[in-house]
Amino acid sequence: MVQSFKYVIVGGGVAAGYAAREFAKQGLKPGELAIVSKEAVAPYERPALSKAYLFPESPARLPGFHVCVGSGGERLLPEWYAEKGIELILSTEIVKADLASKSLITAAGETINYQILIIATGSTVIRLSDFGTQGADAKNIFYLREVEDADILYAAIKEKKNAKAVVVGGGYIGLELSAVLRLNNIDVTMVYPEPWCMPRLFSSGLAAFYEGYYKNKGVNIIKGTVVVGFTSNSNGEVKEVKLKDGRVLEADIVVVGVGGRPQTALFKGQVQEEKGGIKTNASFETSVPGVYAVGDVATFPLKLYGELRRVEHVDHARKSAEQAVKAIKAAEERKTTEEYDYLPYFYSRSFDLAWQFYGDNVGDTVLFGDNNPESPKPNFGTYWVKDGKVVGAFLEGGTPEDNKAIAKVARVQPPVQDIDVLAKEGLSFASKI
Ligand code: FDA
Ligand code: NAD
Repeated sequence: MVQSFKYVIVGGGVAAGYAAREFAKQGLKPGELAIVSKEAVAPYERPALSKAYLFPESPARLPGFHVCVGSGGERLLPEWYAEKGIELILSTEIVKADLASKSLITAAGETINYQILIIATGSTVIRLSDFGTQGADAKNIFYLREVEDADILYAAIKEKKNAKAVVVGGGYIGLELSAVLRLNNIDVTMVYPEPWCMPRLFSSGLAAFYEGYYKNKGVNIIKGTVVVGFTSNSNGEVKEVKLKDGRVLEADIVVVGVGGRPQTALFKGQVQEEKGGIKTNASFETSVPGVYAVGDVATFPLKLYGELRRVEHVDHARKSAEQAVKAIKAAEERKTTEEYDYLPYFYSRSFDLAWQFYGDNVGDTVLFGDNNPESPKPNFGTYWVKDGKVVGAFLEGGTPEDNKAIAKVARVQPPVQDIDVLAKEGLSFASKI
């Protein structure tokens, strides 16, 4: 079978959903747009999977968190796509893309032709088997990327009573999953190679708070070593985790979060790549005219810092998708779009904690507030100062107004005269900007 559409989005995740909404806003005729997704469900807010989806009581379930509820927008149910005449081609993996002939081939051998293509294939997980870790194919070693993975993990959490879990990795997945496993009353040990958790963002001062808080919640933390192998029982289920430093940990469940990898393989050799992603211009158009890349796969010009960046966070997935669609529509009408001027925004939530970060985490760090893990209501943060200016700001436990203030600081980049004064002023420095 051959199907043809004016616009095709390959990938049906966060960026695809926000792009569809923007197409509908800008004006779309029935039958013009198709979304092709390997997943069996309409686009949803992926961040829910490592948080409320795994809660012991009243866990979040679809259709509750389809896009665009994560940013306070309308929830786009499958019926919405049908009403707009948007074809949702689900449970369909694209296995070949030929950008020269503007065609995609599905795993079932069908052809989908397009005039304009948006690549929104996101990331896939890095697996321990990629490093050749011995025994990494044992049962009950879990990864988390898609709703299907979350369902399998949830079933294991429910099935195992008094379970022991080892969480491999000290990044986003490591921290969010350790917390939610503890909420499920599971014994949790985190293992990561670095001297402190979330090293790609946290300073040692920030990490000290989170590590202390997690320990108080009963999470064991083993740092500075890696997993070298697993042993399993006669059913092939994981039983032990072997560490490089010689320690052996008991485990019924292992959750691995050792990073993501952008899914660019379909387009290798056909588009220019940069920094591990598909290189785009400020309109998210790739080196091939009429082919756009958004979300996790895009390496785009970040105007604020005058360099190309790839960002693996949901706010960027949403905004890049909207920008690409605006640019596509503007080009059709021979108009121009407003220049894309993105301010990086990352966040996480676990236990009763919630932090936000805006800007760039480069330069010297200035910790402010009370980062004592025993504090009944943690409220502290960090500024990053480069070339005498604040370029990044992090805040735990902020109110919506506080978070707006740190976003503004990161955008405005005010000069700093004295770092000690900045540390003393803390949040009030941001609130004055
Ligand atoms: P996304 O991964 O959302 O979608 C890609 C889609 O493409 C998937 O549906 C996939 O199946 C499909 N696909 C890939 N290849 C295909 C092919 N060949 N054929 C068909 N379909 C294909 N960020 C944040 O800022 N705050 C947070 O709290 C979290 N929390 C979080 C939790 C978990 C568990 C994960 C995995 C990720 C987060 N993130 C996050 C990151 C955020 O979710 C991520 O940056 C966005 O989902 C990226 O959106 P994309 O649309 O680019 O990819
Ligand atoms: P990550 O990059 O945040 O963390 C990877 C961690 O893996 C590192 O910090 C390190 O501790 C660890 N690691 C690396 N090699 C290792 C090894 N050989 N053995 C043990 N540990 C090792 O990636 P992630 O946590 O896997 O997250 C995957 C993706 O999902 C990322 O794109 C992330 O941005 C996204 N995500 C984001 C959020 C959020 O923004 N709140 C939440 C969940 C997931």
